Amino acid sequence: MTTVASTTDQFVSEFSISRWCDTADVLARLDALLKQPIRPIRPENMSQVLSYFDTHCRQSKLVATAAEHVIPGGVQHNLAFNYPHPLAIRAADGAYLSDLDGNRYIDFLQAGGATLLGANYRPVRERVQAVLAECGPVTGLLHEYEVKLAELVCRHVPSVEMFRMLGSGTEAVMAAIRLARAHTGRKWIVKMGGGYHGWSDQMVYGIRVPGTGRMDAAGIPRSAAARIQEGFPHDLHALRRRLQLNRLRGGTAAVIVEPFGPESGTRPVTAEFNGELRTLCDEFEVLLIFDEVVTGFRTGLSGAQGYFDVRPDLTVFGKCLTGGYPMSGGVGGQRDIMMNLAGGLGGSQKKVLVGGTLSANPLSCVAGYYSILEMEKTQAAQHAGRAGDRLCAGLTEIIDRLGLPYVAYNQGSIVHLQTSGVMLMDARNPFKLIKLVREAESRKRSMEEFGAAYCAHGLITLAGSRLYTSLADTDEVIDEALNRFEDVLKLA
Ligand SMILES: Cc1ncc(COP(=O)(O)O)c(C=O)c1O
Repeated sequence: MTTVASTTDQFVSEFSISRWCDTADVLARLDALLKQPIRPIRPENMSQVLSYFDTHCRQSKLVATAAEHVIPGGVQHNLAFNYPHPLAIRAADGAYLSDLDGNRYIDFLQAGGATLLGANYRPVRERVQAVLAECGPVTGLLHEYEVKLAELVCRHVPSVEMFRMLGSGTEAVMAAIRLARAHTGRKWIVKMGGGYHGWSDQMVYGIRVPGTGRMDAAGIPRSAAARIQEGFPHDLHALRRRLQLNRLRGGTAAVIVEPFGPESGTRPVTAEFNGELRTLCDEFEVLLIFDEVVTGFRTGLSGAQGYFDVRPDLTVFGKCLTGGYPMSGGVGGQRDIMMNLAGGLGGSQKKVLVGGTLSANPLSCVAGYYSILEMEKTQAAQHAGRAGDRLCAGLTEIIDRLGLPYVAYNQGSIVHLQTSGVMLMDARNPFKLIKLVREAESRKRSMEEFGAAYCAHGLITLAGSRLYTSLADTDEVIDEALNRFEDVLKLA
């Protein structure tokens, strides 16, 4: 690992992760959680939780009711917990969110992981406001911050020689897959079961629960994912067999993974996994795509690839790339692969088409440029990682002391708190699918109830089971959060 040069630095490593989690131990504890009956919040305590929303969230309730008439399902964001109804947020600052009713929450959603510097970070906001005042959010022509951001990404991320900015992580994954196919002339793409790579037609395949294939693919023609395959997490032997078989039928263009493991490390890989995967891809001359939408910059400036010292052929970015400002997506990689992308209207050569009227707009680019500079200056990843370690250690202590079956583990600033285990189920055995769907429903309900209880105790989480820490999380913030988590866990 690289050491940081400045004498004032308190961190030895440039990364957010002090030590990779003991994967075997975490998986064994998660397996034990899944093998026992759900331990939900007790019903008498749940009614107390729900009464918080009746008495303290009246303004939010009004907005949520209005939303139901004009917004399908009443919500547009799939990350926050929306049970019993969504909270309408008025203000965001550092580690805190305030809702319309004036309630204050400690924010562990952090815009789905995008705001590593903390919410609404002032030094970046001021830079964005200056560019907005000068040229507005978009002109459709080149802006110097496009180049500055691309240079910064290339400087920090070891495998990236060229970079193309796009509108979202979903779009960037689409571009990476198209590039891989164009570059190799092959068709098959293998993803890991349970991994989330956005919501494009091709990637809504085996999401959340490994082995579920097209289960979530309503509205998507079968043919869209006809050349997508699902590998089981951690199983490199099975992946090898797949790559061998694919050789006989057109070959594999790329394997795409989240380098911490599916669902942002919810099923953590071993420390060796990515290196072994790189070797396997080299053996079969298959491109390796790292989806660093979550891990990029959050792990450290060089991302998960810097941490594991593994170079993918293509890297997908999102979230932290623009520090939480809109239109955050990009793909980067080696020059010879990236040069397959068309620029502008393209020329006479056959090139890979990507687009987006608002992609790479000045607002997103200036936000990204200064966010990354601020991450550098403040050592945001290391601070957030230390906060994640403190939070995880505290949660584990509470869980053990209360004798609960739950599992807390973290990869630096990504903290997982599994109370129902729903995110860890798998559908390896297709004959048990109906039972699995039924069980998943009740486990999901329990996770939802925990999400509501966290809210009622002033804590915002991602889907009731994941907590992103940020630069704004001081020891005091984390200790206060732990008091609140303890109050919730005592309700079970
Ligand atoms: C690993 C990963 N890839 C891709 C995406 C899609 O990114 P976006 O929501 O910007 O389309 C996400 C979103 O959560 C993600 O976690």
